[in-house]
Amino acid sequence: MKTSGGSDAMKRRAGESAAEAVTDGDVVGLGTGSTAAHAIRRLGDRVDAGLDIRGVPTSFASRELAAEEGILCLDLPEAVGPDGPGIDLAIDGADQVATGSDGADDPVSGGALIKGGGAAHAREKLVDAAADRFLVVADPSKESPRLDRPVPVEVLPAGRTAVAAAVREAGGEPTLRRAERKDGPVVTDNGNLVLDCEFGEVADPAALSATLSSIPGAVENGLFVGLADEIHVGTESGVRVDE
Ligand code: 5RP
Repeated sequence: MKTSGGSDAMKRRAGESAAEAVTDGDVVGLGTGSTAAHAIRRLGDRVDAGLDIRGVPTSFASRELAAEEGILCLDLPEAVGPDGPGIDLAIDGADQVATGSDGADDPVSGGALIKGGGAAHAREKLVDAAADRFLVVADPSKESPRLDRPVPVEVLPAGRTAVAAAVREAGGEPTLRRAERKDGPVVTDNGNLVLDCEFGEVADPAALSATLSSIPGAVENGLFVGLADEIHVGTESGVRVDE
């Protein structure tokens, strides 16, 4: 599974802290990435010890890991359909977490996220938004007063150049994400491509997300605004939980 920097021990502390918030009978959104994987492994240990939960994976990789860990999984349509149990909480990582330039209460950007380093942000946003509570797991390298990393945008393959032109029009510089060890583009679990769009510092994440969502052919963008309920940050010595 892709790791995007930060100490693995700190990621583990964050993931395991969030996994402790899960209680018997819960339906749990299972995020993607190396930090969320620590939460899934801890949930697997708790299932071995008798915890009764069902997972809703956000990617092929998180489904595979859940299966290895003995966690029974539901598909998202089953979980949130009219007769479904819903999702009690989701645990997911982030590539950047805005602390807000005026502290966590910054109404413009505090708690906003950039996700999609693992190209899973479309399903992650569906699952994380559907959950009653969304717990973000991160290490301190992910924290920043304002979001300034490139924003991933999943695009329909046929819409790639049209979306890239619209992103430029909106003030961004798009780059097609290429696979690290293969000669070709990254293809998402949904069969789409990813444009990493450089906008510099994002002054208003909600406004930029709305702009990106309005582009025909753009399936989903990696700005997660107003979704996080708790942020578990693994540190050198423990875990800090921001609400
Ligand atoms: C995948 C994601 C991941 O949650 C994000 O890339 C963080 O990954 P990691 O925990 O490995 O640093 O958004 O699409």
